Amino acid sequence: MFRKIKKKYQNFLKSKFLITQIEGDNEEYEILDRAVKRLKNPQGFSFEIGIRRGMGSKKIIDAYRKYHPKLKNVIHIGLDPYGSLPYIFSEDRKNSLEHNYTNLMKREMLINFSKKYQEYNFVNLDTHEFFKRFRDGYPIYSGTKKIIDKFEIVHFDGLHDLENVNLEINYFLDHLCPQTIFVFDDISSFDFDKIRDKLTEKKFKEIEFGKTKSSFEYFE
Ligand SMILES: C[S@@+](CC[C@H](N)C(=O)[O-])C[C@H]1O[C@@H](n2cnc3c(N)ncnc32)[C@H](O)[C@@H]1O
Repeated sequence: MFRKIKKKYQNFLKSKFLITQIEGDNEEYEILDRAVKRLKNPQGFSFEIGIRRGMGSKKIIDAYRKYHPKLKNVIHIGLDPYGSLPYIFSEDRKNSLEHNYTNLMKREMLINFSKKYQEYNFVNLDTHEFFKRFRDGYPIYSGTKKIIDKFEIVHFDGLHDLENVNLEINYFLDHLCPQTIFVFDDISSFDFDKIRDKLTEKKFKEIEFGKTKSSFEYFE
C-alpha cells in the first residue's frame, strides 16, 4: 500500500517537475551484485559502458558498499556519449533513432549521481573516442593524480553488436586485475557464442548465464 502511494507520488513529481530517478531497463541486475560480491581481494575499480539512467552503475557501487565496506576510494567509471546518437540495439537493428538517450537524460542522470555517489566518475564520450584517448588508463584526481589502468568489474551495455563488443573486450583485456569479472547485457542481440569462445581462449570462465546477461571471470 505504502509502496503504491510512493510510486504514485513519484510519478506525479516526475510529470510535474521532470524529476527523474536512477532507473534501469533490465531484470538481471543481481548478476552485477553477485559479481562484486565474488571479489576476493577487491581493488575498487569498476567500469560501465552505456549508462542510460544509471541503474547498472548504481548496482555496482551499492554492491561495493555492501560487500566490501572497508574498501577506501572505490572508483567507478561510467562512459556514455548520450546526445541522441544513432544507436545499435542489435545486429539486425542498427542506426536506430527510436530511443531517448538524450542530453537531457545525461543531465538528469548527473543530478541523481551527484547527490549520493562520490564513487561515480562520468565520462561523456563514446567507446571509440575513449579507447583512442585513454589507451594507458584514465586519470582520477583526488588529493593526487591517479591513472586507473586496471578494472576488476566491467559491465558491457553500450552498443549491442559483435564488432563493438569485440572492440570493448580488446580494450579491457589489456587492463585486467588479477581477478576480473566481465558482465554482458543483451546477449541475444548478437552472436554471443563468438564472445564466449574468445573469452574462453583468454582463460575466462563463464560463471552466470541469464536470460539477458552473462558473466565471465578471469583469475590470474
Ligand atoms: C541499453 S542503455 C544502457 C542501460 C544501462 N546500462 C542500465 O543498466 O540501465 C545503452 C546506453 O549506451 C549508450 N551508448 C550509445 N552509444 C555508445 C557508445 N558508442 N559508447 C558507450 N555508450 C554508448 C546510450 O547513450 C545508452 O545510454
